[in-house]
Formats: sequence, structure tokens, C-alpha cells
Amino acid sequence: MRRDLFPMPPRIYLDGNSLGLMPHAARSAVEKRLLEWEGSAVGGWDDWFSLSEKLAGQVARLVGAGPLEVAVTGSITANLHALLATFYRPAGIRRNLLATALDFPTDLYALESWTAMHGAELVLIPSRDGETLHPDDILEHLTDDIAVVLLPTVLYRSGQLLDVERLTRAAHQRGILVGWDAAHSIGAMPHHFHDFEADFAVWCHYKYVNGGPGAPGGLFVHQRHLERIPALRGWWGHDKTTQFEMRGDFRRSSGANAYQQGTPSILALAALEGALTVFDGLDLLELRRVSLELTDHFMALCDEFVPEMRVVTPRAPQERGGHVALAHGAARALSSALRSKGIIPDFRAPDVLRLAPVALYNTKSELEQTVQILRQVLDEWAAGTLEQRGSVDSVVT
Ligand SMILES: Cc1ncc(COP(=O)(O)O)c(C=O)c1O
Repeated sequence: MRRDLFPMPPRIYLDGNSLGLMPHAARSAVEKRLLEWEGSAVGGWDDWFSLSEKLAGQVARLVGAGPLEVAVTGSITANLHALLATFYRPAGIRRNLLATALDFPTDLYALESWTAMHGAELVLIPSRDGETLHPDDILEHLTDDIAVVLLPTVLYRSGQLLDVERLTRAAHQRGILVGWDAAHSIGAMPHHFHDFEADFAVWCHYKYVNGGPGAPGGLFVHQRHLERIPALRGWWGHDKTTQFEMRGDFRRSSGANAYQQGTPSILALAALEGALTVFDGLDLLELRRVSLELTDHFMALCDEFVPEMRVVTPRAPQERGGHVALAHGAARALSSALRSKGIIPDFRAPDVLRLAPVALYNTKSELEQTVQILRQVLDEWAAGTLEQRGSVDSVVT
């Protein structure tokens, strides 16, 4: 949809679900901020002072939030800690946290830190097949002992998309607060965190938002909770109009920006600032339509040409995110071979290849070439002639 806004690499890049490609605008935005630093030094803060708030206002549209409900700060892990510190208040029998057995590990580590501190339990919703979650199992675990449930919008491995509206409503009916990890959905589809009344959410900007490796993260706090004082406070969460009065008492910034803590990295924000311009005027429903069309096309090609690769991702459009997961016993070797032939997938142990046709910059023809090469690689593997040049598997997220 916006391929011309990216310096496309010579290889076929299908790893945007791990690290999105760099938009041209990210480079120019960083260069602009570097020149400001060079030219104005500390004077640059006149403009940089409100940069994270400006970006939060832009990101709000991507997650279906009001402008005050979002902060651009931290990382998923750090933001989860900040939000749990504020929202997790074990009381009476409602003491435990709930997550899923298929969550990204850092989410579980963060949740466990808090249950350990409170002598409570982290309950995990099991998976029947080791790859996806059954909605009935989630509903069954929304019990009276649970204070807060954290769920992924899209599961990082299988690409299954959960029903945010239904699950949020069900948890609320049972008196449970709901947080969402939207790492694998932001930038790939519209969200409705405000309308669906999620209590809080976290996400990163380095995948489908293309904000750069280790880009500052994002968090959402629903408007009805904005009166809460963040439990983990820092001066960057102070009311901006009096921040430099250097008073000892904390007066919260308006909205979710109060969850910021220390001085943000302006150069990291700059890359995100540039990347967000790619979304200017972009219809998110159209983005999702194109993404589904690409993943559909890809799965159909896989069924036809590489049937020995098992499609792990659910087929129904309302049940899948932006990437396709394919399982095969030799996935690690296949991933290395694909890389050596100019296709960049990623590999998740023990047996999954994830491929993300990103609507912003990938094309159907790239998917057709990918499946052709995958066919060739599978034939070589079956014949025992697969050349493995030891290329490095994707190591990051
Ligand atoms: C679902 C999910 N949560 C969390 C993370 C990582 O968190 P952080 O940004 O704190 O490194 C990832 C990384 O890919 C992820 O996929």
C-alpha cells in the first residue's frame, strides 16, 4: 500500500512481525533531530519537551483511543510493571492474576513478579493444541479469585486473534480488570480499546509500526481510570506546566502521560515520529483488508504448493492477525535455507516458521516467489541435498 515510503531491501522481507522495515521518513526525522541537537544543544528541549505527548496523540488513532488515553514510553515489559503496580490490588479472595500458557515470556515474567510480591498465584489458561486458545477455556478461567487478566490480542507464535470485545465484556461481568498486549496487532489492523472498554493495554512500535529496533513502547489506560495516580511515578509523568518548578509533590500529568517516568530518548522518539507519518491518512480498515487478502493468498499458495507445511494460523479472518505460522519438523533448517536464498522469514523453536506479508510494503508477487522457493527448499530437504549455510536465525521477538 505504501511500498514507495520504504527503501525496500533486495531480499524478500517477511519478518515485519518481528522488526518492521525502516521507512525513509524515520531516517529523515532522526537526521532532523540530530541537527537540532548539533545546532541548539539544550535549546532543543523547547521542542523535544512535548514530543512523546505529540506522538501519543498520533498513536491513539491506531489503538482506538482518545488522545489522553495513550502514552508513548517505556517498553512492553516496563509498561506492564507500571500498569500492574497501579491496577493490581489483590483483596479478599480476588488475589490472583490470569494469563495464558501461550503468552510471550516477558509478559509472564512481569506478571509473576507481581504475584510473587503479593504471595498470590499466576493462573495460566491452557492451550488444547499447544498453538491456539479456545475461547471457552478463557471464559472458564474468569473466576472469582482473579483480580486482573492479561491477554494477547494476537498470539505471537500462531497468529491467532482473540475477540477483544467479547472477552473484555465477559471479564468485566465477573468483576475482573482486563489488560491487553497488542504487540502483534498494532499497525496491522484497527483497534477499539476505548469503545470496548479495555482497562489498560501495552504494545511495542518496532513491529508493524516500523518505529525501529527497541522503539519506545506504548500504553493505554481507559478514560474511566485516568484519575488514578500511577503507582510508579517519575518526573516525566508530572504535570508539564509545573514540571520545572521542581516541587517535591507529584502532580500528575493529564491522561495516560502520567505513566511516563524518566526523560525519553529523543532520537528513539524521532525514528517513531518519522515512522508514524507512513500512517498519515491511512484507512485502517483498508489496511486490514489488504493484510487479510495477503495472508489469504499466502495460505492458499501454501495449501497448493507446499502441503507438507501445516498452516498453524486459524483460517477465519476474524481469528487471525497479520502473520502466517507454518509448522514443519525441519523448520529450523528450512528457515536457514530460505535466508540463504534471499527470503527472510523467522523461526520459532521447535518447528514454526512465521511469515508476515505486511500490507504496507509486501506484495502478492513476493508471496508467490516465496512459495516457489519454499517448494524448492522442501524438495532439497526431502532429497537430503539441502544446503545449509549456517545463516543466523532471527533472534529477536
Ligand atoms: C507479545 C509480545 N509481548 C512482549 C514482547 C517484548 O516486550 P518488550 O518490548 O518489553 O521487549 C514481544 C516481543 O516480540 C511480544 O511479541
